[in-house]
Amino acid sequence: MNVYELIKKKRDGLELSAIEIRSLIDGFVGGQIPDYQMTAFLMAVYFSGMSSAECVEMTMAMANSGDQLDLSAINGFKVDKHSTGGVGDKTTLVLAPLVAACGGIVAKMTGRELGHTGGTVDKLESIPGFQAELSKGDFINIVNSIRVSLISQTVNLAPADKKIYALRNVTATVDSIPLIAASIMSKKLAAGSDGIVLDVKSGRGAFTQSYGNAVELAKMMVGIGTGAGKQVVAIITSMEQPLGYAVGNALEVQEAIDTLRGQGPEDLVDLVTEIGGDMLYISGLAASREQAKSRIHETLLNQSGLKQFKKLITAQGGNPDVVNNPLLLPRPMTKVEIRSTDVGFVSAIDAMEVGMASKNLGAGRQTKDDLIDHSIGIVLKKKIGDNVTAGEVLAVLHSDGKEEKIEAARDRLRAAFSISPKNTDPPKLIHARVTEDGVEKL
Ligand code: URA
Repeated sequence: MNVYELIKKKRDGLELSAIEIRSLIDGFVGGQIPDYQMTAFLMAVYFSGMSSAECVEMTMAMANSGDQLDLSAINGFKVDKHSTGGVGDKTTLVLAPLVAACGGIVAKMTGRELGHTGGTVDKLESIPGFQAELSKGDFINIVNSIRVSLISQTVNLAPADKKIYALRNVTATVDSIPLIAASIMSKKLAAGSDGIVLDVKSGRGAFTQSYGNAVELAKMMVGIGTGAGKQVVAIITSMEQPLGYAVGNALEVQEAIDTLRGQGPEDLVDLVTEIGGDMLYISGLAASREQAKSRIHETLLNQSGLKQFKKLITAQGGNPDVVNNPLLLPRPMTKVEIRSTDVGFVSAIDAMEVGMASKNLGAGRQTKDDLIDHSIGIVLKKKIGDNVTAGEVLAVLHSDGKEEKIEAARDRLRAAFSISPKNTDPPKLIHARVTEDGVEKL
């Protein structure tokens, strides 16, 4: 195989064969293809796209690039969820223990930040002592004892995605439908769950900004998953503004804890209820989706998901006292308020800009080997539709005190808020459900 020619073929919009795609992925994982050639290939895919056949081949090559997780030592239906990436999206932190508290089994592999969006592993690692890198044996034992475990993508599971993901994160090659579909579904197929609920985001803070592209991505992933014998449902949801109020690792853990205590922000609670309902329903734990959603709602109110979260933290080496004492989570050096100069109503909050402001403030990586400061992030004080007076606080930066980063984040955040004299309704959160039977508007 001549890698130069494969890159050129993709650059020129031609279709690669199954053998060509497999040798590219295997060569990259094996170290014969360097990062710069893979990056050029990814950029070529970004511009030229892929056919469905190419995307399925790429997914399978990536899923087969390492071990397949055999979950047969865990009895019962294993259910997973995956978001295509959002800003302030701490849904997994809430849903994994919540669904386990309702009787579901969540043996989940989860990721780090990508582009302007956060990653569940980075969030979990803000809990002192929390170990996301477990052996397969420990992972299975934990699920068998408490019905839930969250681990990071281990070296052997879909290593092709792990390597490609790290490159995409720093080379502006994330927002490509076939690359996202192959990335997500390769991990899901290798990770061995029986059912998967996909949260496909659309809107300004999503990798697929238009509703049409989100539906296309959802259909592609549902097709790949059902073709591989899994039960797969995708929900198309809005990422026009950040989810909840907290953006940044430790801040999002805190908001997830509040939500599990029954005190979560409305949009996060609604999303958790919808996705959690589908997770319970496909697990066969409810007779209907409505019944499943009521179960999720009751479990939020009776706080049994919170107890399950404490068990999860303990089982993975973390300090469970963070649940009752937020001071045990990493604290920022300084807090800086961003105030409005206008009067009116918040008509838009550019989620992508909020995500980038948080990342550049230090909550994310600039190069693939950077360490991140878990205490850093942004707390929104206003959301779309809220009334604002002059001088009122729009958001608070949690920062390491570096002036130049604060200045840049301040400008970016001010520009992310649009204030208008006319009141605007918050954007609709849940748009549609995509299954193998088609698209159902919600
Ligand atoms: N989540 C993933 O795991 N991969 C992507 O490419 C995008 C979101």
